Amino acid sequence: MHFQWYPGHMTKAKRMMRENMKLIDLVIELVDARIPLSSRNPDIDELGKGKARLVLLNKSDLAEEHMNNAWVEFFREKGFVAVKVNSKKGNGLKQIQGAIQEACREKTERDRKRGILNRPVRAMVVGIPNVGKSTFINALAGKACAKTGNKPGVTKGKQWIRLNKQVELLDTPGILWPKFEDQKVGLRLAFIGSIKDEILNTEELALEFIKFMGGEYPGVLEEKYQIPSWGDCFETLRGIAESRHCLVRGNELDTEKAASLLLDDFRNGRLGRITLEKLDNND
Ligand code: G4P
Repeated sequence: MHFQWYPGHMTKAKRMMRENMKLIDLVIELVDARIPLSSRNPDIDELGKGKARLVLLNKSDLAEEHMNNAWVEFFREKGFVAVKVNSKKGNGLKQIQGAIQEACREKTERDRKRGILNRPVRAMVVGIPNVGKSTFINALAGKACAKTGNKPGVTKGKQWIRLNKQVELLDTPGILWPKFEDQKVGLRLAFIGSIKDEILNTEELALEFIKFMGGEYPGVLEEKYQIPSWGDCFETLRGIAESRHCLVRGNELDTEKAASLLLDDFRNGRLGRITLEKLDNND
């Protein structure tokens, strides 16, 4: 399967990110809880050198709870402060303030030694497209927060959202592009819908997804679509088409439509909570 991308956008986004990095103390990196590694871009480690770091496992409502906890532990062991959140519903957001303080402890201590007290932490949210950056910023900022705008001393054109006395957030998130040279990573990104379906063959993708489900979540598709267990990906897709009345020209099964329906059900959590990337299958 081939993936294409648009290098022009990437270069511009990276340049902007470099500029914005100069203004902040803390990088809040959103990853997708269903694929915590594949939804990262290792460039962030170089871009965010010297900054405090916070990793958020967003969309945690769509991934298995015990795996979310395992991934939080994984990131913590790597030295990041990590929290699982559901930006859509607001779960986990209460923990953010404490997590920010924890991530910025060294900076606060440095400031204190220099006699600087109560200087707010400046933060930027970063992550790959569709990981939930805007949703998170809106959820965190809510309606009560005023934008600070172009104050004297604040870089022109940059908008800061004052969350409280301690934290100011850049209102435009930094966009990271996923690394999908690796076939497995590319597939996982495609499953969650991070790579546009138009540049992929939907049916092929759905067959790969059925294969994954057969191995890691046996019986789930059969139960959901009320189909027998064929043990054959294409038969399963045909089964889904039949069960959901996806038909073309009279009575022919529309497997293309069934493929879209299946991927859509997965992406919206209608197949239940599914973690695509487990700690022991991410090689
Ligand atoms: P971005 O800025 O990083 O590109 O992402 P954005 O906030 O636009 O979010 C992308 C999609 O992910 C949105 O869905 C959003 O609602 C959903 N989303 C964000 N955070 C969470 C979360 O924690 N859990 C779940 N389940 N979904 C989340 P959409 O399909 O574009 O819109 P809609 O379904 O909200 O209408």
